[in-house]
Amino acid sequence: MDSPIAVIGGTGRVGRLVARQLLDRGERVRVIGRSTQRARRHIPPQAQFFAADVRAPATVRTPLHGCSAVVYTVEPGTDDAGPDSPETTMHTGVRHVLDALRSASGTPHFVLVSQRHVTHRDHPMNVYGRMLDWRLAGENTVRASGLPYTVIRPGWLTDEPGHGHLHLEQGDIGDGRVTRPYVADACVRALYSPAARGVTFEMRSEVGPATGPVPWEELFAGLRADDPAAARAALSRG
Ligand SMILES: NC(=O)c1ccc[n+]([C@@H]2O[C@H](COP(=O)([O-])OP(=O)(O)OC[C@H]3O[C@@H](n4cnc5c(N)ncnc54)[C@H](OP(=O)(O)O)[C@@H]3O)[C@@H](O)[C@H]2O)c1
Repeated sequence: MDSPIAVIGGTGRVGRLVARQLLDRGERVRVIGRSTQRARRHIPPQAQFFAADVRAPATVRTPLHGCSAVVYTVEPGTDDAGPDSPETTMHTGVRHVLDALRSASGTPHFVLVSQRHVTHRDHPMNVYGRMLDWRLAGENTVRASGLPYTVIRPGWLTDEPGHGHLHLEQGDIGDGRVTRPYVADACVRALYSPAARGVTFEMRSEVGPATGPVPWEELFAGLRADDPAAARAALSRG
């Protein structure tokens, strides 16, 4: 791509795999996170690190300026309220990033790592600061933004070295685990595939040996596009 790609949460376990793959493709990578120490430990020297906090809008403007794409893979807090509640990173933080992107020129592709079950308010994960509700609100904000986007909903994340068969699903009806390397692959592949724009999908992988290269284009081509009007309606209902 002509301009840098920002990986917000690029010092994290999925984010650092994303950053590495993008560098391997010859991209310029800006990693965004709060901890400089964590960055020193976990990002390759070719990536540029910016200490910034998605909860503080002024801190994200400079690192996002002029980016051609953004991968947002931030771990939320679990408090019911206050700075470490999921609302601050999964909804308000997403809005801050979108605002910063809108105030700069261009139409960067926004890849949001969300999670399965966000449409199930009675799921046990939602007791942690209404995490699922806020994730869904963040997703809807991205879907209604007018920017090109991809929303990725992994199941429970693992670090198993085996890459079993991968499934992309829609409708938020299933369950299952998925390895972080597959999630990172999906984030990166989505940036280069027109078929991955304007879609939301869940991911799960089977445990076991690799079943051959993942046919990403075929998987993306099988997805149904989202309806942005539905996202706008959900946001206006609050
Ligand atoms: N664990 C699961 O089973 C599971 C399932 C589905 C989805 N997910 C989601 O998948 C994504 C990736 O997970 P992961 O395992 O890679 O997470 P991780 O290793 O905990 O990494 C999270 C990243 O977010 C950054 N971050 C946290 N708060 C931030 C803030 N306020 N501003 C800027 N950066 C911030 C962290 O860096 P600093 O701390 O330095 O800021 C770190 O780089 C997360 O959204 C996670 O919730 C996880």
